[in-house]
Amino acid sequence: MKNLWTEKYKPSKTGEIAGQQKAISEALAFMDSFEPGKALLLTGPAGTGKTLLVETLARERSLLLLQLNASDSRNAEGILGFFEDSTRTKSLFHSGKIILIDEVDGISANDKGAVSAITKIIKQSLYPVFLIANDPWAAKLRPLRPYVKMVKFSKVHSSSIEKRLKEICEKEGISVKGTVLKDLARWSQGDLRSAISDLQTVAQGKNEISEEDLEILGYRERESSIFEILPTVFKSRSISASRKAIQSVDKDPDEVFWWIENNIPLEFPPEKLAQAYDLLSKANMLRNNVAVQQNWRFKAIMTDMISGISVVKGEAHAPHHGFMMYQAPQKIMMMGRTKSSRAALNSLCKKIGGVSHTSTRVVKRDYLPYMRIILKKEKPAETHSAFSVNFNKEEIALIVKV
Ligand SMILES: Nc1ncnc2c1ncn2[C@@H]1O[C@H](COP(=O)(O)OP(=O)(O)O)[C@@H](O)[C@H]1O
Ligand SMILES: [Mg+2]
Repeated sequence: MKNLWTEKYKPSKTGEIAGQQKAISEALAFMDSFEPGKALLLTGPAGTGKTLLVETLARERSLLLLQLNASDSRNAEGILGFFEDSTRTKSLFHSGKIILIDEVDGISANDKGAVSAITKIIKQSLYPVFLIANDPWAAKLRPLRPYVKMVKFSKVHSSSIEKRLKEICEKEGISVKGTVLKDLARWSQGDLRSAISDLQTVAQGKNEISEEDLEILGYRERESSIFEILPTVFKSRSISASRKAIQSVDKDPDEVFWWIENNIPLEFPPEKLAQAYDLLSKANMLRNNVAVQQNWRFKAIMTDMISGISVVKGEAHAPHHGFMMYQAPQKIMMMGRTKSSRAALNSLCKKIGGVSHTSTRVVKRDYLPYMRIILKKEKPAETHSAFSVNFNKEEIALIVKV
């Protein structure tokens, strides 16, 4: 598919791969001193050049690449059927071969046969075997450990991504305005594949791109401060304008919720207050669902809902409208003040969790109330070694206080 820019602008030599110097030299060393029985396991985030490295190695050295992907059948039979003979026989037209089993994380955890088939291939292959997995710590890869050497890929640095994007634009004859490429590089979070395909989405068929063109990707154009967006949120009378403003702010929607809640009395006339708080209380239920059900979709719905505050307000004004001095919500100021003691409590709960083999959250919810009662009864104590954890005076105070 040459019409994909990720294919069109794919490096053809290992020397052209962005970053990953250490991984590349480890792979070259592995090839040069290859001995059967050990494979190279490339791990790391998506879009950083893992598959690319194996492909370019094969191309550079005129080796036949035998590649098994996630879309191929990868049970034991499939793996052995594909590789078993070819790993032990010579290639007619190439000087050698490279065996690649890509996206190993995708092999079913229940399929123990598949993992032992891979082991078998590693043991008997006369040619270098590469495995690729995103997550090096996946439990199902454990049986492979003795047979692999691990090589880590890192995220591609955003300045290298920007440079790549610039080269592509030059070759495509696209002139670039403003910070478009920097933004794309930053948003891709080290994933060069997605940066290039985002660029293609934005730029294909154009001879000039600027920041407005990025809107098609649904990203925030730039970060705004909460004081810049609150007037829009309260006064725009358009849900979509409000939503866009909330999405562009450098704060979590959760925090925006409290800013809105705190400033409603400044913006709304008394007769509209009930309606405004009613909307917020519904949004608040969704906010709570995010935490309780660990479902982040609720956050998006919550954001849509608080965006509606501009419509509730409509043409109405508070009696003293005009220039607004928006107030920071008490809740957030308080969270700021108690940040250090909350952090201390969290780390204490983590310590207890380590002994009781429970999560910090469970310790907080189920253990702390009882510990508080016990420790209160037994005071004053300098230290306490109940529950198999040694608490010092400060820690006891912290537990008793919450
Ligand atoms: N380090 C890199 N240098 C140059 N291009 C890269 C790099 N990483 C990814 N790419 C681009 O992204 C595409 C996909 O990369 P790929 O190697 O398949 O990523 P993955 O690490 O997920 O296997 C490549 O074809 C290439 O166009
Ligand atoms: Mg890949």
